[in-house]
Amino acid sequence: MNLKNLKIKAEKEIKQTKNLKELDGVFKKYLGKKGEITQILRSVKNLSEKERKKRGKLANQIKQEIKKGVETKRKKLQVSIRQSADKFQEERVDVTIPGKKLSLGSLHPITLVKRRAEEIFRNLGFSIVEGPEIENEWYNFDALNIPADHPARDLWDTLWLKTKTQKLLLRTHTSPGQIHYMEKHNPPLRIIIPGKVFRHEATDASHDIQFYQVEGLMIDKEVSVANFKAIIQEFFKEFFKKSIEIRLRPSFFPFTEPSFEVDMSCLNCGGKGCSACSQTGWLEIMGAGMVHPYVYKSSGLNPKMWQGFAFGIGLDRLAMMKYKIKDIRLFYGGDLRFLKQF
Ligand code: FA5
Repeated sequence: MNLKNLKIKAEKEIKQTKNLKELDGVFKKYLGKKGEITQILRSVKNLSEKERKKRGKLANQIKQEIKKGVETKRKKLQVSIRQSADKFQEERVDVTIPGKKLSLGSLHPITLVKRRAEEIFRNLGFSIVEGPEIENEWYNFDALNIPADHPARDLWDTLWLKTKTQKLLLRTHTSPGQIHYMEKHNPPLRIIIPGKVFRHEATDASHDIQFYQVEGLMIDKEVSVANFKAIIQEFFKEFFKKSIEIRLRPSFFPFTEPSFEVDMSCLNCGGKGCSACSQTGWLEIMGAGMVHPYVYKSSGLNPKMWQGFAFGIGLDRLAMMKYKIKDIRLFYGGDLRFLKQF
């Protein structure tokens, strides 16, 4: 082959090499003991003196150029080997380094109290059911005998949703759940409906704008206030693991007759009076009463056939008593210093 073409071919092959092994192969091919250039140089001695000089000079020159090309490429490859080694070192994942420990969270005190209340009622034969947080006026008010002009419907008590067609609201209590359930299930029944409720009202140590209630409903042929008292006293005893002083105060709810409110002696101050109980020594825990005939009718049941009680416990207030928390607003403040204690 023409020497110049040989040079072009060698240079092209040097350029194409991707690693040192390939480069050594090219070197050997042209400049090794049996390499193409080496053989040309060896055969020069057989030529005439004039030819020998000319071809020998050119072959040597090409030999040097190829050598130089190989060396330059070798340096380049070595640099890139070093760089990828550095990069590998940088990006290396040390699988032996101990992992970062994820700190486990804990359950919110309201969740703890809700689960405990569910457990106790379940043991007393109650089933746990759910009701929707968004209601219409029928379920939240009308079906429960709350008249159209009742102040609870006011903008100041109820959070209304901005809707174009039907008037919707965030339920102000869990009692609408009674209607939903009785529409689909015939008595006898024993249920609790735990869930979040919302009210547009001023907050203080025992009032927030969102809180949890546990609605209770027990309906059968012969259910009396005495049954209610027994169930509630059992609940308190189990929940607080000691007997608790409670009192039933006559009250009014349009959906129960008679109605009463249940207060418990404040455990924060031992009944002496503190901010949690507005200095009265008593904390109102629930509203209750015997289910009003109107409510049976709203649910499609015959009030002459059934008797029962209903109640709505303020879960947040129970939690305040259990954990001796003086301000209800701590539950929803998201302060980790508070939450980490549970
Ligand atoms: C009711 O909500 C009735 N639905 C309860 C009821 C159910 C009566 C079934 C009869 C039959 P009341 O508004 O009183 O009632 O609320 C019940 C309980 O929720 C209160 O006793 C109190 O413990 C709690 N509660 C009321 N308002 C708040 C508030 N703003 N923040 C925290 N807890 C509250």
